Amino acid sequence: MPYKKIICATDGSPTAEHAQRVAAAIAKASRAQLILVHGCSHAAQGEAVVQKAKEQLKAEGVTASTEVHEGDPVEILVEIADRKDAGLIVLGSRGLSRTKRFFQGSVSHGVAHHAPCDVLIVRARPFTYNPPSPSYKSIAVATDGSPTADRAARKGLDLARKLGASATLVFVGHPSTGDPVLRDTLDAAGEGMDAKLRVVGGDAADRIVEVAEAERADLIVVGNKGMTGASRFLLGSVPRKVLEHAHCDVLVARTITQVSTEIEKGEGGIVSVDGQKVAVYRNDDGELIAISAKCTHMGCTVGWNSADKTWDCPCHGSRYTPTGEVLNGPATKPLVKTSL
Ligand code: FES
Repeated sequence: MPYKKIICATDGSPTAEHAQRVAAAIAKASRAQLILVHGCSHAAQGEAVVQKAKEQLKAEGVTASTEVHEGDPVEILVEIADRKDAGLIVLGSRGLSRTKRFFQGSVSHGVAHHAPCDVLIVRARPFTYNPPSPSYKSIAVATDGSPTADRAARKGLDLARKLGASATLVFVGHPSTGDPVLRDTLDAAGEGMDAKLRVVGGDAADRIVEVAEAERADLIVVGNKGMTGASRFLLGSVPRKVLEHAHCDVLVARTITQVSTEIEKGEGGIVSVDGQKVAVYRNDDGELIAISAKCTHMGCTVGWNSADKTWDCPCHGSRYTPTGEVLNGPATKPLVKTSL
């Protein structure tokens, strides 16, 4: 599942410059379109930043388009990713201030929580294990065998294959479950790959970070749901903790679409129908209710909030009931009924 469009947040800081090079390496390997984005309070200054970044990439043989917007960087990145249907946002783990200048840790966390696509957080360099490189040499991919984690693992293995990196599949739990899960994942998604399989016990996030360090991984790939079931947040507790503790870059793979058979009673999920995203809720009688996943405010894609049983829009906070009626604005109209 290669990326077709990649958004890279840039602010001119050294971390952002490294993120640019990482984004360019993945865009090259995936033959994806690269879009450099900057958000700021003065568009003229932002224009200078993105033009400099564009020239740097051009010198490395990579073409990128640019967008500059005034406003909150998290909202800007989430909105553009949604509008462009981007598969990946790449940004530095820290850089400039959210209010005074541009990116900071709070921005990378905000984007990781709310993005409608995968998010790659690039750590500040110098990096401790491998020399700074725009590509990855060793990728640790975490899975727990759930459909969501399995899709994330496939993305991680696919990325390792494209970048020519070695891969380590990590399962946290009992070997009687972990061994077959990892073998099945590798058989299904790692064709021809010689990945290491590691089953470890203990706290999921801690062990994933430890295995990554032991394997000298320069990238960890985790699913956005984590391994703890329902969460109030769009980002589960395991990926959140991995983001906080990992010493290397982290790719949070978001599996936006599901198949409707995976949606349990009283739960919702986004399903792709003829290329369109449909919000599907299975009521307590087992019936499926399908509504458009496009927020009626400005068209961002809503996500299911399993804690509150609502459809939430990541862009400006509109919330809807499971059947699409507005709970909170700025949206004023219900989600549009559709069919599967
Ligand atoms: S697009 Fe603005 S709240 Fe959804």
